[in-house]
Amino acid sequence: MDRPNLDHWEQLAAVHGFGPDHYYDLDALVAGATLMGAEEAQALRLATDGAGVADLDVLHLQCHLGCDAITMARSGARVTGVDFSPTALRRLAELAERCAVSVRTVEADSRDLPHDLDDSFDVVYATIGVLCWIDDLDAWMNGVARVLRPGGTLVLVELHPLLTMIDSADPLVVDFPYAFDGGREFSGVGSYANRDADVAWTTVQYAHGLAEVLMSARQAGLELSHLEEHLEMGFDPRGTDFGREADGRYRLRLGAGPSGDDLARPYPMPVLYTLIARRA
Ligand SMILES: C[S@@+](CC[C@H](N)C(=O)[O-])C[C@H]1O[C@@H](n2cnc3c(N)ncnc32)[C@H](O)[C@@H]1O
Repeated sequence: MDRPNLDHWEQLAAVHGFGPDHYYDLDALVAGATLMGAEEAQALRLATDGAGVADLDVLHLQCHLGCDAITMARSGARVTGVDFSPTALRRLAELAERCAVSVRTVEADSRDLPHDLDDSFDVVYATIGVLCWIDDLDAWMNGVARVLRPGGTLVLVELHPLLTMIDSADPLVVDFPYAFDGGREFSGVGSYANRDADVAWTTVQYAHGLAEVLMSARQAGLELSHLEEHLEMGFDPRGTDFGREADGRYRLRLGAGPSGDDLARPYPMPVLYTLIARRA
């Protein structure tokens, strides 16, 4: 168990969704809105050949407050939320009650999923900010493969490792490796959802390059069915307005654009990826 990371997530789970939080608009969720991003909704459509998750057994892995778990339950899925943070799961249970949907919660480490979940799910859904907390990627993937039914699907929508390398575009600060190279300790205050949140933290995070993620899925017996690198996204991963452009989309542009054109901006680099893989 990574104690600093659990402490960090316990703190964030207690403050997210309260006060000026630009990420978790829980009143809107309770009123019927979805907080699921467009890329995640598209990934679920792709994974289910357009049919959606109605009547499927879905595991929302590292669900945090479980806003997407609630959206999937509203669509008719039988949803289980797994997280190692008891506070997050308590918040999810309260939210589900306010939204009048049923979501089962299981407190567990995602590197060591309980065996009573084996062969239970049609979809494992894990998105945005899940793998950077995981040292042992193969343990994570093997657990995912184990809890999927044969033919079941992993839907992973994750921050691109190129984006996570970059602390600041201007001046350019590259403070995180592209691929796994042990843990890196970070300390700070506030949260990506509310920079002013009254929390101070230390975390240990791990890089996982795209090839490592693919190869880890493969060794776990998951067959790739879709891989996409997104050059823009609709949300701000850090709560800093990092990369926000005039059309409201977030892009990562570094350095200069094509030479000879003073107005040209540098081409955008990948910020997000979608991986869909099936248990054979
Ligand atoms: C960035 S959040 C995921 C955000 C989620 N996609 C959302 O929309 O709210 C990461 C989550 O991973 C959980 N987590 C981190 N390490 C974990 C581990 N080893 N086992 C289980 N959960 C873990 C944290 O408690 C946190 O809820």
